[in-house]
Amino acid sequence: MHRRSIAHVPLALVLGASLAILAVMTGRSEGQDPAGQATTTKGKVDSKINAPFRKPNVKDYVKRFETEKRENYAHRHEIVAALDLKPGMAVADVGAGTGLFTRLFAEKVGPSGKVYAVDISQPFLKHIAEDAKKNHQDQIETVLGSQDATNLPENSVDLVFLSDVYHHFERPEKSLASIHKALRPGGKLVVIEFDRVEGRSSEFVLKHVRASQAVFRREIEDAGFRFIATPNPPKLKENFFLRFEKAGVGGGRTSK
Ligand SMILES: C[S@@+](CC[C@H](N)C(=O)[O-])C[C@H]1O[C@@H](n2cnc3c(N)ncnc32)[C@H](O)[C@@H]1O
Repeated sequence: MHRRSIAHVPLALVLGASLAILAVMTGRSEGQDPAGQATTTKGKVDSKINAPFRKPNVKDYVKRFETEKRENYAHRHEIVAALDLKPGMAVADVGAGTGLFTRLFAEKVGPSGKVYAVDISQPFLKHIAEDAKKNHQDQIETVLGSQDATNLPENSVDLVFLSDVYHHFERPEKSLASIHKALRPGGKLVVIEFDRVEGRSSEFVLKHVRASQAVFRREIEDAGFRFIATPNPPKLKENFFLRFEKAGVGGGRTSK
């Protein structure tokens, strides 16, 4: 009896360890990944996540997105500073929402630059276009995207920016492939996203955001983006800020 149970310990350990490794590799478990971060299901995004944006009350969303109570808004100038935008650059604000970053980008790239505001929501785009006209920001162009494509011209931008958008992508591989195509060689992708950590994040984030920073980073690297550090990243608490450079597809992974 004694001898038998000892003989089964190594087998149980090997099986347990193999299952844990498999789970981390596929990103399909709750628990700890090799970076020590909680991981969650990598399953499909909730199909209802974008339903509110089909016919949004734009005024309500301006109040919701453009408030000092929201971390991305409160730190907007720090965030824009970290992007190091220069006059004449071409930038895409994908999932632009009410256009809070689009307007700030237009100031930085100036009249010789270009800012594409991409969204799947036509009412948001109409609001951005009206604002741009009022502010004489002719460098802003709105683009209606879909869950399959940003519809940005190929090789057209130096930077793609996503603020609280990545977790809204219903087909992240397709969106990332489209972003990859739109970027010029050496172009950058900046992702600001809720940092979903089991036991620390709010109920809203745990329910609303499908995966952890580590899982999102791996997906992005696998789509052909190389992580690069940012000299002066914004000091965010609820969100993470990651910067990537366009690399060959499949050649971006640097994380374990
Ligand atoms: C939470 S809002 C963030 C808005 C804005 N980036 C901000 O930080 O204020 C998410 C936005 O992503 C848009 N969105 C969802 N899926 C998208 C996709 N595949 N391509 C472009 N925009 C998308 C939604 O319509 C919505 O405007």
